[in-house]
Amino acid sequence: MKIPPALLATLKDRAHTDGNRLTLTGPRLDPRTYQQINEILEAVGGRWTSSEGAHLFPTDADTALAPVYATGSVVTLREKRQSAQYFPTPKPVVQRLIDLAKLTPGVRVLEPSAGSGAIAGAVTEAGATVDCIERDPGYAAVLADAGHQVHAADFLTVPAEAAYDRVVMNPPFTKGADMQHVEHALRFLKPDGLLVSVMSWTVTTESRATAKFRTLVEARGGTVEAVGKGAFRESGTDVPTVIVTIPATRPADAQPTTWPTRKTPPATESEFEDPAAIAAEIIASLKEATAQFEKVAAALERPAPPTPARPVDVVPLPQRTQDQLFFDFDGAA
Ligand SMILES: C[S@@+](CC[C@H](N)C(=O)[O-])C[C@H]1O[C@@H](n2cnc3c(N)ncnc32)[C@H](O)[C@@H]1O
Repeated sequence: MKIPPALLATLKDRAHTDGNRLTLTGPRLDPRTYQQINEILEAVGGRWTSSEGAHLFPTDADTALAPVYATGSVVTLREKRQSAQYFPTPKPVVQRLIDLAKLTPGVRVLEPSAGSGAIAGAVTEAGATVDCIERDPGYAAVLADAGHQVHAADFLTVPAEAAYDRVVMNPPFTKGADMQHVEHALRFLKPDGLLVSVMSWTVTTESRATAKFRTLVEARGGTVEAVGKGAFRESGTDVPTVIVTIPATRPADAQPTTWPTRKTPPATESEFEDPAAIAAEIIASLKEATAQFEKVAAALERPAPPTPARPVDVVPLPQRTQDQLFFDFDGAA
């Protein structure tokens, strides 16, 4: 969004920054101007925090605002969502990632392109601890709001530290970015760690662009499974995807990697479910059916009670007048 010069001047004039805090000085702004300024601040990671009486940023507020002042424009959160660069992972796919990652309480996880936390939230729910990295300051602020540890940065420039048990991710795909992100993310794993990532279907095809990555997956004993068609439709894309699982160290019992083909049946939604949950559901239905059956059997064994003689109700019908035979469509008498 190109920021109107008067609005930009008001922002520059009123914004008072102190580290990661920003307050708007002077008399109260009219609601429309405040809303527009708030939208600009949110786009670069600012969040109004009433307990602080200020907009708080995940980084230094001046640094966050510098590109806005320099260019007189900003990409609002609304615009970012519309520009289809951001595809949050839908729940069934997140669940499959979590299952494949075999998370246990206390496990340390990295989500290096965390968006607004679809994966990070599920990792936390599984009892693991998660560190998030997100380049976009707006989404980084959403993650911080949700209570996640977040580092607002370009992941590809973050120095690797082999400190994580798991990496669980759905990185950007453009121009092979997913391969770059996954290769860098592998450097963050402990020797017994495991990475699970959504990736573009492109990685399954043999080409010069994918050769190095495919060799890496095969050397580590990685596994690849197709994600069901339309799995990302609710996020606004039909791009075909796979889930790739890569151990930090090749396991002794690793099988040769099988790359899915167009003919490989994709993992269906029911396969995304935990087998224990499916079994529990079947047992619950059987118990319910047994209870119903026992009720019917007990009722059949009891002698039927004598039916009391009931007087017949006589409902007098209204008198039909000549007028009732005509329909008054126009309300005319
Ligand atoms: C496909 S979305 C997925 C978001 C999240 N992982 C999820 O599964 O819902 C990719 C995310 O990666 C972020 N991103 C893109 N390039 C990045 C980079 N170089 N470093 C960190 N994050 C990046 C985008 O802002 C976006 O939020």
